[in-house]
Amino acid sequence: MIEKELKTTIQIFDDINELPLSIQNLMKSAFEARDNAYAPYSKFKVGAALILDTGEVVTGNNQENASFPSGLCAERTAIYAAGANYPKAIIKAMAISATSEKHDVLEPIAPCGACRQAIAEYEQKQEQPIEIYFTGTAGKVIKVDALLDILPLAFNNKFL
Ligand code: THU
Repeated sequence: MIEKELKTTIQIFDDINELPLSIQNLMKSAFEARDNAYAPYSKFKVGAALILDTGEVVTGNNQENASFPSGLCAERTAIYAAGANYPKAIIKAMAISATSEKHDVLEPIAPCGACRQAIAEYEQKQEQPIEIYFTGTAGKVIKVDALLDILPLAFNNKFL
């Protein structure tokens, strides 16, 4: 038996003003997308914004459904929109923000496991990492240099 340690580095920013200007703007797009989320059931609104190598910004937000499992998270709505509309573009970064009508969201909200798996697919497809920035309603922002940094031992197409 061998034991192996898996390490991840994250960067924590006090607020969005500490981010590069292009990422501040991307986060503002995520805020706007978040506010347009359709979340009548959970009241938890999430927005995601992607920037492509072409400079184009693609956004998404969570879309809920009376049949709960039919809804979709913001991150997947955004990344599938990018995949559908800009299939040849390289996705450089994703910004994510969440807010709730029920309580303050003071901590950065990390993407769920299913969204990490979906984003990982595009890192693999484009053979380039996607920077991920996530926050709550405002305040601290966490950055990882690549999605795979927060999905160790990911399932991938080499297994197929
Ligand atoms: N949600 C997202 O949009 N992204 C995540 O990473 C986690 C959760 C949405 C799904 C659902 O509409 C609401 O947040 C509550 O789970």
